[in-house]
Amino acid sequence: MTALLEIRDLHFGYGATPSLLQGIDLTVQRRDRLGIMGDNGSGKTTLLLLCAAVLAPQRGTITCLGQSVVAGQFQPAVGVVLQHPADQLIGATVAEDVAFGPENLGCSPPEVQQRVDQALAKTGTSHLADRMPHQLSGGEQRMVAIAGILAMQPQLILYDEPTAFLDQRSCGTLIEFLQADTTPGLIVSHDPAFLRRVCTQIFLLESGHLRPLAL
Ligand SMILES: Nc1ncnc2c1ncn2[C@@H]1O[C@H](COP(=O)(O)OP(=O)(O)OP(=O)(O)O)[C@@H](O)[C@H]1O
Ligand SMILES: [Mg+2]
Repeated sequence: MTALLEIRDLHFGYGATPSLLQGIDLTVQRRDRLGIMGDNGSGKTTLLLLCAAVLAPQRGTITCLGQSVVAGQFQPAVGVVLQHPADQLIGATVAEDVAFGPENLGCSPPEVQQRVDQALAKTGTSHLADRMPHQLSGGEQRMVAIAGILAMQPQLILYDEPTAFLDQRSCGTLIEFLQADTTPGLIVSHDPAFLRRVCTQIFLLESGHLRPLAL
């Protein structure tokens, strides 16, 4: 069966860190949610940005559902939840924000409404529909950002440090959501206990390489 995401011999670096990723191989199958840990600066966010077609590999390939991932080209199959939710909340209200994705995918108004209602319900944020996103708490913003991605119905979701800035209660809400939602993907986090609860496998990114860790 075609993998959802397939990374082969991926190399990437920036000017000051030319050999950040030195041959990454990773496959995400339909039931996989893979956790990625690693020190600050080890390249975790960079790896997600490569998978999200924001950056281009210097060597190697990334394919999503058998199609080559081309930097700069929109990939409707891949949703990305950024580390800072405020970076992806742009609507005047929560409902408008969550509607933005399906509207841009060309969904009809009733379909948009249905997707917004579903995404808000799944993330436990229906009561926030009329609020202004920038006035929400960090935990509320995180769940609304996830709702915005869900409304686009991606086949794969990439999360960059989703527990950052969350207190224990909000973390619990996020864990409950992730345990109920079966969308496969990647989760970058510094919290091994969190990853163990929501991932099928965990990897460590170190010195440019990924290696599996015991769950
Ligand atoms: N746009 C950029 N230009 C130059 N260097 C960059 C750029 N983005 C990241 N870097 C550098 O690449 C390295 C990896 O950064 P990245 O953000 O991928 O790390 P990370 O593993 O996500 O770290 P953290 O745990 O702190 O979020 C760092 O040394 C960083 O300074
Ligand atoms: Mg990062």
